[in-house]
Amino acid sequence: MDTVKKTAAELPPGNVPAARLEQVWKHYYLGKTEVPALKGISISIRQGDFAAIAGPSGSGKSTLLNLIGCIDIPSSGTVEVAGRITSALSDRQITRLRHKTVGFIFQSFNLMPVLNVFENIELPLLLSEKAPPKAERRAYAEYLLEQVGLADWRKHRPGELSGGQRQRVAIARALITRPKIVLADEPTANLDSKTGTAIIELMKKINSELSTTFIFSTHDSTIVEIADHILQLHDGEICQEVRKQQKQEQK
Ligand SMILES: Nc1ncnc2c1ncn2[C@@H]1O[C@H](COP(=O)(O)OP(=O)(O)O)[C@@H](O)[C@H]1O
Ligand SMILES: [Mg+2]
Repeated sequence: MDTVKKTAAELPPGNVPAARLEQVWKHYYLGKTEVPALKGISISIRQGDFAAIAGPSGSGKSTLLNLIGCIDIPSSGTVEVAGRITSALSDRQITRLRHKTVGFIFQSFNLMPVLNVFENIELPLLLSEKAPPKAERRAYAEYLLEQVGLADWRKHRPGELSGGQRQRVAIARALITRPKIVLADEPTANLDSKTGTAIIELMKKINSELSTTFIFSTHDSTIVEIADHILQLHDGEICQEVRKQQKQEQK
C-alpha cells in the first residue's frame, strides 16, 4: 500500500489516475447469503477520461460507482481516488475527499423542488465547508447555467422543466464545486433516447472544455459508444475494456 501511495505522490499531478481500483471485491449479505457484486476488479481511469461503465442490470455498475464516489467501501482490494487510498483515510477525510473531489449526477435528477434552477445549481456551494464569496459563487453558477443551455430558465422550478432540462440542471449542480471527477449513475435511464444522447454529448463537451473526468454508467449500447473509455461489466467482472485511440495517445 505504501509503495502505491509513494508512487502516486512522486508522479506529476496530471499522471495520477482519477480513480484506480486494484483487485476490488464487494460482497453484500442477504441474511446469511453472501452476494458477490464485484469480483476482483482492477481498472484505472485517467484524469480527463470520458469513461462509461456498461453492463446489464445487476452487473455491479452502481456498486462500482459508489466505491469510486467514496459512498461505500470495498470488502477487499484497493480503491484510490485522486491519488488517495480510501481505506487509509478516516471518515472525516473520506467525507472531505468526496465533497472536494467528486460531483454526482443521479438517474432521478434529485433536484430540490422548492428551489429554482439557479438556486439548485448554487446549493452545493452553500453547503460546502468554505463557501466562496457570493460574487464568485454567482459568477460560476451563471457560467455553468450558460454551459448547460438554461440561462433563460434560471427562475423556473424543477417541476416546470422537462426531464432533459432537469438533468442539465443536475449536471451544472454537479460541477459547481469544481470537482475533479463527476460520477453519473445511469443519467439517461429516465430520458428518451434522443434526450439521453444529448445529455451524454453535453457531458462530453464539458469534459473537453473543463477537463473534468466523467464516469457514467449505462446499459444502453448506443450511449456507450460516445465514451472514449468503455468498461464492460458482466456479473461483477470486467469482461471487456476499450480505450479509443485519441485518448490512448494522450500521456
Ligand atoms: N444493498 C444491497 N444488498 C444486497 N445485494 C445488493 C445490494 N446492492 C446491490 N446488490 C446486488 O449486487 C449486485 C450488483 O448490483 P448493482 O451494483 O446495483 O448493479 P447495477 O447497478 O449494474 O444494476 C446485484 O446482484 C444486486 O442484487
Ligand atoms: Mg445500478
